[in-house]
Amino acid sequence: LTEPDVRILEVGPRDGLQNIKQKVDTHVKIELIQRLAASGLRAIEATSFVAPKWIPQLADSKEVMQHILDSGLNQSIRFPVLVPNMKGFERAALSRAEEAVVFASASEGFSRANTNCSVEEALSRAEEVVSASLSRGIRARGVISCIFECPYDGPTDPAQVLAVARRFLEMGCYEVGLGDTLGVGTAYDVEKLLRVLFTEIPAEKLAGHYHDTYGQAVANVVKSYEMGLKAFDSSVAGLGGCPYAKGASGNVATEDVVYMFERAGVRTGIDIHRLSETGDWISHKVNQKNNSRAGSALVAR
Ligand code: HMG
Ligand code: MG
Repeated sequence: LTEPDVRILEVGPRDGLQNIKQKVDTHVKIELIQRLAASGLRAIEATSFVAPKWIPQLADSKEVMQHILDSGLNQSIRFPVLVPNMKGFERAALSRAEEAVVFASASEGFSRANTNCSVEEALSRAEEVVSASLSRGIRARGVISCIFECPYDGPTDPAQVLAVARRFLEMGCYEVGLGDTLGVGTAYDVEKLLRVLFTEIPAEKLAGHYHDTYGQAVANVVKSYEMGLKAFDSSVAGLGGCPYAKGASGNVATEDVVYMFERAGVRTGIDIHRLSETGDWISHKVNQKNNSRAGSALVAR
């Protein structure tokens, strides 16, 4: 197998589903993951081990992980899971997760709303989780929220994003995801932020995690790629959003990212047709509009 030119982390089963009010059956989540795997995705954020009181939709994380292990899919595909604290780490480790995603906001307001603690406290919880993970042979990745703007505090200073990114790398995360939680940033904002981050952090350590509320996310992926990033998070059918960022929509649709890269001759390793069918299938299953323009166009052909 040839290595793809860009690494796409599919976050639909986690970021995509966490904000859906109606209960999605565990078997639908598992089928979603299996279909995504069959389309060629090699990294799929499967679920989260956050407090079920906060995100009831993902309370079945243990069952989802159990199926992944039983099916043997984890032999060839990475399944990172979101972990906010040691309680989450213990649950994830019992479920034999192999990669933990820790997270913190670049702004205080969102940190309080999303994790009920300050940025500093979220980082020290993350540090415990990363250190426990590494000592058990579990990889760790960090994701920063509100890289451009916070729903509570307004615009984010790029220096704040740099400070959080530095901490994640120092504690041992192999990569830092840059989360535009609100999906407000444009290519111009991406360029401004990356210039600041690149003063200390190489592009290989960074990944784009762009939500698409204002329709800018594909452009933001292109700008990031042109500036050297090779890793991107995206969600099939553009599903999702964060319950603690009201009005924000899902991540950039995986179909749109794959379509854009493949047309440019940048290999993703993903079958756009199978992926588009999966996007259409899950949109129907969860009664949401298919937010991938490329995916909708391809299934309508
Ligand atoms: P808290 O209520 O302050 O926690 O929540 P606590 O330590 O006081 O515990 C309260 C109760 O929750 C206790 O149970 C704990 O045992 C339990 P009780 O004694 O009342 O029965 N508990 C847990 N149970 C299971 N798993 C756990 C866990 N932790 C505590 N891990 C906490 C603090 C951080 C846990 C909570 O605020 C939380 O879970 N927040 C996560 C919210 C979330 O999942 N948001 C969406 C994901 S982040 C995101 O989408 C952004 C991202 O995509 C990037 C971007 O786009 O910006 C990553
Ligand atoms: Mg997100």
